[in-house]
Amino acid sequence: MTSSTHTSPSGAPSTSTRVLDALAGIIAELAGERALETSLAASLESLRSALGAEEAAIWLLSAAGMVRAWGSGPEQVGGDAVRSIIADERWDSDGVVAARISGGEQRSGALVVRVTRALEPEERTLVSAVANILAPELAHAEKSRRLEVEVEVRTAEIDRERRFTDKIIDSLPVGLYVIDREFRIQAWNRKRETGMQGVSREEALGRTIFEILHRQPSDMLRREFDDVFATGRIQEYQMESLATGELRTYRISKIPMRLGDSGVTHVITIGEDVTDWKEAQTRFAHAEKLAAIGQLAAGVMHEINNPLATIAAIAESLQFKVDDAAKAGAVFSPDVHEYLHIIDNEVSRCKQIVDGLLDFSRPKLPLRERVDLNEVVQRTMLLLKHHVRFKRLTVNTELASDIPRVPKASAEQLVQVLMALLLNAMDAMVDRRGAVTIRTIRGPTAGEGVIAEVSDQGSGIPRSELTKIFEPFYTTKDAGKGTGLGLSICYGIVQDHGGRLEVDSVVGQGSTFRVFLPSVDL
Ligand SMILES: Nc1ncnc2c1ncn2[C@@H]1O[C@H](COP(=O)(O)OP(=O)(O)O)[C@@H](O)[C@H]1O
Ligand SMILES: [Mg+2]
Repeated sequence: MTSSTHTSPSGAPSTSTRVLDALAGIIAELAGERALETSLAASLESLRSALGAEEAAIWLLSAAGMVRAWGSGPEQVGGDAVRSIIADERWDSDGVVAARISGGEQRSGALVVRVTRALEPEERTLVSAVANILAPELAHAEKSRRLEVEVEVRTAEIDRERRFTDKIIDSLPVGLYVIDREFRIQAWNRKRETGMQGVSREEALGRTIFEILHRQPSDMLRREFDDVFATGRIQEYQMESLATGELRTYRISKIPMRLGDSGVTHVITIGEDVTDWKEAQTRFAHAEKLAAIGQLAAGVMHEINNPLATIAAIAESLQFKVDDAAKAGAVFSPDVHEYLHIIDNEVSRCKQIVDGLLDFSRPKLPLRERVDLNEVVQRTMLLLKHHVRFKRLTVNTELASDIPRVPKASAEQLVQVLMALLLNAMDAMVDRRGAVTIRTIRGPTAGEGVIAEVSDQGSGIPRSELTKIFEPFYTTKDAGKGTGLGLSICYGIVQDHGGRLEVDSVVGQGSTFRVFLPSVDL
């Protein structure tokens, strides 16, 4: 934009010329490509020098008050003055000339010039004209400013929300991570950072899941994720892991996530340690089974016992008859003797099973003694001392001194438990050297205040069988030698006492059975 200079006859520019020049200058400033803030400042500067004013300033106001100011601060002109400027469009008082700027939405402003002399009418017109020119610029400045503020506020809000959701997923007691379509990790929670195989968030974010979970076969992982991406359905499965040093069971859920309206964009994977839950579940199922057997046993026991007694009695009297006849010179085929012998053996095997089952059906003994576990051990040892096979075995007893008592217990039933454990230990040590050790230990808490431990150096139990051995009728022993009821009866008794039965075993090295029982102090 160009400006022309009109010169008055005296040689000095006339007021109107100066005013026009100033206006042209200000318009040029605003049209320049400088940032709005800079052009506003420059325009105010031109106006100030054109009028020989002390200062020129712009205020922008909302109903609530001052919003922004360019030039000097609002303290120069009181709020009342600004309000009347806005109401009256123009305002003149001692040394102040002001014009209203009709601002943007719900905003108005004022252009205020502090002057040292009275202004010419043209100069006043200049102030109004500049105020009009500035109006759209100001509205624009205000709008972009508002956008800026809004972006800032939204960003802060999103940050806050993000921190909040981060906190939530970090507080979850499950491992959680999220991958996108490229299998890149987009979220990785606290639980996944801890533990033996923990990976820090910085390390994980942005990398592919195959790089991070390199221990897992990548084609299998990929197939699992592809499944979720393709079907959009939650996939769940259980996984066993020795990562923490002990065998733990995890429930893994892969959950589809959709960012837009289209297909699955991410997959959330949650890994939950369900070892304890699973154990409780097994215990529960087991307790139910025991109860069912108890009922069944009570029903049939009596039915079976009577015929068994009859068979035994008849077999015995047949034996007598055969013996008598033989003495009288009769000759029998050897089969007869063998058959009688078989009947006798099989009847006693049935009796053994029936007796075992009776333990389930017998009405439960009231548990009302306060029992010293060391005494229980001593009584058990006394009973077993005369057992032929025990005589060939080294049995060490290590009793803790000052051991607390077991409240609400039955010494007789606890003897039965230890007896069953010792008999099993003995069975496991056939043809093996070594010793059986029975120990009492003070437990860590009142809930598990005393522990009785039976260790052997026998055959051990394979890991896959460890949960089965407590099942009724599970036995690896030859028919007639084992009923498979010993441990399930122990289990039931210990549970009735509010305790817990546990086993550790290494094949080829031996097993340790531990009975945890609640305690009260001596
Ligand atoms: N100390 C042990 N060492 C090795 N295996 C054992 C031990 N105790 C129990 N078992 C296994 O658990 C099974 C079940 O034991 P139990 O319930 O007492 O029945 P049973 O002794 O009649 O077989 C046994 O047959 C055996 O396989
Ligand atoms: Mg047994």
